[in-house]
Amino acid sequence: MHLSRRNWSLLRLPLWMLTPLHRALLGTRRTLDDFVGAVIDARLADPGAAPDDMLAAIMAGKAELSRAALVNETKTLFVAGFETTATALTWLFHLLSRHPAWAASLGEEARALGRPPGLSDLRQLPRIAATVEEAMRLYPPVYNMGREAAQDDLLDGHAVPKGVTVLVSILAIHRDPAAFEEATQFRPGRFLGDGAAARRALLPYAWGRHQCIGNHFADLELALVLARIVAARRLLPVEEGEVGLLGRTTLVPDRPIRLKVAPLARGEVAPA
Ligand code: HEM
Repeated sequence: MHLSRRNWSLLRLPLWMLTPLHRALLGTRRTLDDFVGAVIDARLADPGAAPDDMLAAIMAGKAELSRAALVNETKTLFVAGFETTATALTWLFHLLSRHPAWAASLGEEARALGRPPGLSDLRQLPRIAATVEEAMRLYPPVYNMGREAAQDDLLDGHAVPKGVTVLVSILAIHRDPAAFEEATQFRPGRFLGDGAAARRALLPYAWGRHQCIGNHFADLELALVLARIVAARRLLPVEEGEVGLLGRTTLVPDRPIRLKVAPLARGEVAPA
């Protein structure tokens, strides 16, 4: 929240000027540095005990990184991968609660496996993958991306001077009726079957050189969480009514989304 207030502020003072906002921002940074630093110190002290995870892969890489570089790499992955995925799950659960018939059909698909869904089962759950895609189309957690003009340019008749930041709205592209039929409606079926036409304008992870490096990981994580939940539970809305959008660091709901976790309907049995 502090970061997004600073990012959107018209007057961006240097960080060393200790305004209340900057104090809060630096405090948060210190907390994160201490937390990540403690994990790295433990790894450096006893590398043999490390689990097989991302940090172990970075430390085993070709380039030997200093402690400061390891802290920075880990912080980047943590910050880039945590709130984005959490926001995607928030919207996914919201959509499930508002579309109970679709949620029930997802549950059926997942329970047909006869065991709690695992990573290797996801290929057999096309509706789960389509639901993740549709949720991120309607509510892309990263809703715009900034690019700095490397040189003077002309974009659709508008002058873009060198050095200016251009924002590309992923949200506007995802809700453009020219790109998607019934663009504002939740229609996961558009991504079933081939789904290639619908995917042409789908870019929750952006594209090009700076496309999200965590995209496959996030897709798997979201699909697995979704499959596990629909196989065993129903999510019911606590409040009805529209939920608006707030553009913060990620695209968040304008109020808390409260849901009730209910048992499956009569006759449905969760896989053991
Ligand atoms: C639903 C989850 C996620 C979404 C929607 C998402 C979205 C994005 C987007 C749109 C970008 C490009 C930003 C730009 O070009 O300006 C990006 C970059 C990035 N993402 Fe993700 N991301 C997600 C999860 C993750 C995860 C799980 C990780 C790491 C484990 C991660 C790591 C990164 C990194 C390191 C970059 C910067 C890449 C670069 O600049 O070369 N992301 N992400």
